[in-house]
Amino acid sequence: MQDTPQTLSITRPDDWHLHLRDGDALASTVPWSAAQFARAIVMPNLKPPVVDTAQALAYRERVLAARPAGADFQPLMTLYLTDRTPPQEIARARASGAVFAVKLYPAGATTNSDSGVTDLRRVHGVLEAMQREGMPLLVHGEVTDPEVDVFDREAVFIERHLQALRREFPALKIVLEHITTSDAVDFVLAHDARDARGAPLLAATITAHHLLHSRNAMFRGGLRPHYYCLPVLKRDSHRVRLMQAAGSGDPRFFLGTDSAPHARGAKEADCGCAGCFSALHAVELYAQAFEQAGCLPRLEAFASHFGADFYGLPRNAGRLQLRRQDWTVPDSIEYLDTCIVPVDAGATLHWRVASATRA
Ligand code: NCD
Ligand code: ZN
Repeated sequence: MQDTPQTLSITRPDDWHLHLRDGDALASTVPWSAAQFARAIVMPNLKPPVVDTAQALAYRERVLAARPAGADFQPLMTLYLTDRTPPQEIARARASGAVFAVKLYPAGATTNSDSGVTDLRRVHGVLEAMQREGMPLLVHGEVTDPEVDVFDREAVFIERHLQALRREFPALKIVLEHITTSDAVDFVLAHDARDARGAPLLAATITAHHLLHSRNAMFRGGLRPHYYCLPVLKRDSHRVRLMQAAGSGDPRFFLGTDSAPHARGAKEADCGCAGCFSALHAVELYAQAFEQAGCLPRLEAFASHFGADFYGLPRNAGRLQLRRQDWTVPDSIEYLDTCIVPVDAGATLHWRVASATRA
């Protein structure tokens, strides 16, 4: 096509939902994200989880130490909310200047969520403190009730818990993380309240794999564990709705990869781990999704503006250049003494990151 752009230059993006793991894994994970993103909200679901400011600061140092020479990547730390988090921890977290949010995992909802919240009533004091301090609550929005169908757990969470939470804490900043359903899109669209800076009080992150794939991807010709993540991929009509939201230019929807590295053997197992790895080619995957949906011009705001605006942080000064160039996602990449199979391994992507500049 004559009019197809061959290059794309966007404000340097940020990843508002990322799993980097810890220890020796950081040497693999940090460089991948640092190559594409200027900043990332780093999830606290380590073993044991990051539950207080001192642990978050120590984890931050380990992430910084794993940056490749010359990289300016900034990890934005989070705390893992538990039934026992003291409300006073929020002021400490805020004062540190390094903790940017608190993550709510319903106990048992996903990978390393055993220490999560068992009942929202137990954390009311903390939520009050967060509302006061302007500290965002990042929500893994799935019920853990084994009676509820796995594919309905997000919709049921919204109905059973999120509606009430929104009402009880009307000024709390909330991000519904990695949304997967039209129910979540509707919930976000129904709430247009803003904070004092004019930024949304309720927003949602969307992963690249949920924009590109429906649950069919998990069963194409057999069982495909590398497409298994939580919340699980849904039917295609939900994917279409997510893509509409992401490509709509609405500042309440922004980029969060939920890139979640698991060694190949931990996924190709009789009880495989949940999590898709996309840090290697995150921006390329989003570009593919936005182009397919005919909204490539809206990629920049979704990837590089709206998240920063929500968190009250400056947009990045640097730029990221992409080039139109077909390339094949590698079948696997090295990770610790084993490997990871990335999302869409073996597939052809049409955009490739060419360079990143700082300012
Ligand atoms: C994440 C992980 O592996 O840490 N897994 C996933 O399927 N997304 C945890 C999470 O974000 O739910
Ligand atoms: Zn996650």
